Amino acid sequence: MGYPSARPRRLRVSAAVRDLVAETSVRPRQLVQPLLVKEGATEPVPVTSMPGVVQHSLESLRTAVASAAEAGVGGVLLFGIPEHKDATGSAALDPDGVLPAAIGNAITEAGDALVVMSDLCLDEFTDHGHCGVLDAHGRVNNDATLEAYAQMAVVHAEAGVAMVGPSGMMDGQVGHVRAALDATGWLDTGILAYSAKYASAFYGPFREAVDSSLVGDRRAYQQDPANAREALREALLDVGEGADAVMVKPALGYLDLVSLIRSHVSVPVAAYCVSGEYAMVEAAAANGWIDRRRAIVETLTSIRRAGADVVLTYWATEAAGWLR
Ligand code: PBG
Repeated sequence: MGYPSARPRRLRVSAAVRDLVAETSVRPRQLVQPLLVKEGATEPVPVTSMPGVVQHSLESLRTAVASAAEAGVGGVLLFGIPEHKDATGSAALDPDGVLPAAIGNAITEAGDALVVMSDLCLDEFTDHGHCGVLDAHGRVNNDATLEAYAQMAVVHAEAGVAMVGPSGMMDGQVGHVRAALDATGWLDTGILAYSAKYASAFYGPFREAVDSSLVGDRRAYQQDPANAREALREALLDVGEGADAVMVKPALGYLDLVSLIRSHVSVPVAAYCVSGEYAMVEAAAANGWIDRRRAIVETLTSIRRAGADVVLTYWATEAAGWLR
């Protein structure tokens, strides 16, 4: 036998062979489209830090949800931006607030075509921009925040949401929200837990997207990018508290954790490709430095290859159109 004795390139010689042996696929139904809804907006407001992303009005949200459903996207994750923020984020608990209204509109539009989810956090609603209520020293009060999350979850459930996504990294948030949903009869309302959420610079562009007023950072509750074992601990705790699915966030710098968690839990694992990851690709593409479409598909494929069952991405609807 000649040299080389093995020729792996045979499996790459044509598109047909490559397709036949591809180990990973990205299907539209595996993608979730995050959507932002701004209270009082009469038309979509572009987010300059995230080209192509807008703050929706309640009306334009319906069009976006319809497009996502039409493209075969598996779900939408709704974020609300209230007109009035205060120290306790009280607008988040208002049944007539922006997020319950958005949930209602999304369900009306989507029916059973996709899963309507909501972000369950106070940071868009507090005037200080933190994910919870503060104590006398200006620190986020874990247990007082849990009470607010529990009420907020019930408000979203009453609006019809299929899954809530607690994203504030409070200890015990999944168990507390589960207990509140169960106690009010919302036994089938699911929890997509942001289990391993890192204190990341890659959330930068999102600050503008939700008109955030945050001063300082979230390092006292979100995870340290230096740590991996801690992510597994968080995910296992969340599963124990009743999470129906767990999430890693951001995605690209944390694919080792997607893989690690995938191998240790039996619930679905999601990964959130965040605003900074989106903005980097968009900025490079706008400069002609990168092939936009290839970069997006490669990004989503890599997240799936690492083990994510579900990918949250601002490209969901557009990418679903290419991937069908
Ligand atoms: C908190 C929340 C944030 C994001 C999603 N949920 C902001 C933060 O934790 O700082 C970031 C999303 C993104 O950057 O795409 N409710």
